[in-house]
Amino acid sequence: MATHSLAPSVADRVDALLSRMSLAQKLGQMVQGERASVTPDDVATYHLGSILSGGGSAPGTNAVADWVAMNDAYWAASMRDGDGQLPIPLLYAVDAIHGHANVRGATVFPHNIGLGCTNDPDLVERIARVMAHEVLATGVDWTFAPTLAVACDMHWGRTYESFSEDPARVASFAAGYIRGVQGDLGNDGVIACAKHWVGDGGTTAGNDQGDTAIDEATLEATHMTPYYPALEAGVLTVMASFNSWNGEKCHGHRYLLTDVLKGRLGFDGFVVSDWDGVDYLHEDYGTAIAMAANAGVDMFMVSVEWKQCLELLHRQVEAGIIAMERIDDAVRRILSVKLRFGLFEKARPADRPWSNSATFGSDAHRDVAREAVRKSLVLLKNEQALLPLSKSARILVAGKNAHNRGHQCGGFTVAWQGETTNEAIEGGTSVWEGIQAVAPQAVLDESGASANAAHHDVAIVVIGEKPYAEGMGDIRAGGRVEPGSQVMVKPHTLAPYGKTIELAQLHPEDLAVIQHIAAQGIPVVTVFVGGRPLVVNAELAASQAFVAAWLPGSEGQGVADVLLGAHPFTGTLSFAWPTVAAPTYKASAPLFPRGYGLVTG
Ligand code: GLC
Repeated sequence: MATHSLAPSVADRVDALLSRMSLAQKLGQMVQGERASVTPDDVATYHLGSILSGGGSAPGTNAVADWVAMNDAYWAASMRDGDGQLPIPLLYAVDAIHGHANVRGATVFPHNIGLGCTNDPDLVERIARVMAHEVLATGVDWTFAPTLAVACDMHWGRTYESFSEDPARVASFAAGYIRGVQGDLGNDGVIACAKHWVGDGGTTAGNDQGDTAIDEATLEATHMTPYYPALEAGVLTVMASFNSWNGEKCHGHRYLLTDVLKGRLGFDGFVVSDWDGVDYLHEDYGTAIAMAANAGVDMFMVSVEWKQCLELLHRQVEAGIIAMERIDDAVRRILSVKLRFGLFEKARPADRPWSNSATFGSDAHRDVAREAVRKSLVLLKNEQALLPLSKSARILVAGKNAHNRGHQCGGFTVAWQGETTNEAIEGGTSVWEGIQAVAPQAVLDESGASANAAHHDVAIVVIGEKPYAEGMGDIRAGGRVEPGSQVMVKPHTLAPYGKTIELAQLHPEDLAVIQHIAAQGIPVVTVFVGGRPLVVNAELAASQAFVAAWLPGSEGQGVADVLLGAHPFTGTLSFAWPTVAAPTYKASAPLFPRGYGLVTG
């Protein structure tokens, strides 16, 4: 597996720097604290190598300029020289996983499940490049993307972060995504992070952070496959996964993190832990830290207790439980990534070419997102060729997701769990706003109560899920939690989203609206907005046409582009669509196979 061979200049520079670093300075590089618990002075005092924003953690008024100012202050602190400090620029990281969607006014792209339906890796590379430019506009260096999960059970709350249940389809997007994000490692890209290594999408019953109980051949063929092109494309970081593999947590798994990833696959970037993911290796934090470091974790992502992590790292090294060679290897990896990314040569964030760029959230960027929305739509039913609709038709637009930019963006948008209003998503268009812009006789009535065949030729009913992220989106059939799932041991137990994958049980209001309108003799086009292919037998039967729109992001106008005939349907399912609402739904023949999609025009 060809990866970076460190150019002599980088290797020499790393060795030269390492030889000047104290143990405290080395250990500082290995710790990433969350911005809410770290000041710029902390960065200087403790020599921190990185800071992150957890989902929804933003400076000031969450404007681009606030982000640049924050990064400028952290960077300046990391570059102080003297008084026991070496100038080593820190890395700032965010979850820009479908656009830099933490930030107000960002271009928000469809989540990966929709991109997986486009069959267009070149488009995904363009998306990644636009996203990198919006990340750069805020002075940020590193995004925890792409997620290369192969989601195997849609009970998992992170299904929508997966491009597909098919490893090959996920792999087809990986290299372009890395190229798009990292560019030429100059001023045009940021550092990417392939995650979560490994087997995050394969846990029993889809329990987030649960146990992936499969043999090594299956782990390799299903969950490692998408990483090969990412490593080939030179991804600079990999994130360890919360899940366990046959009962052993990935964060402490030396074979997976070191022997396979760094050894056999030749990965020479660095491994970052997931959010406090080290904590769950052992009840004694110091022991857990040593287990993770010795397994191959190079940088520790710590939400609050980063000082304790530093102190315990130091203690474990002093006690010889973590060898100095392991510390030097971790720091060498971190420094080489910073040098390969040109971080030492970059100006301070406020003076970098893309900082505060007017292209942030620009029409040009939104046009790319709108194209992605169009290509992500999958037409599942179209009786009597109802679609595309005429722009002059008297269209009744209804449903809880018709006019809600928050709902259509899903999780990891402004807030970790997403937003539920239009106001929270600045810029962009709801599905309704997109239809209204081109169909002068369209009217909005979310309840559908005003449906009247004398006034309405056709209805578009936009239904589906409300936003969620991670374990909060888990569906635990019958409320069951499998042994090994950390969801039930985390300090903040994540309340599972629901107990069934049948939409009519989760959101009965949707079927009620469809049936009421259809009962008036009005043909219904149902548009599903959600993060996974829930069982929709009843909703489908009551609809004359049915479209899967996934989580389209800020540019809802892309849905209108296709419903009203400006562009054809071209998308195909990245996941098979189930018929049976049961934990064992995959044992039954799907309603629509993966790859299915009607085309028009
Ligand atoms: C979360 C997620 C991971 C994310 C990280 C930082 O728990 O597992 O995907 O990158 O924490 O927000």
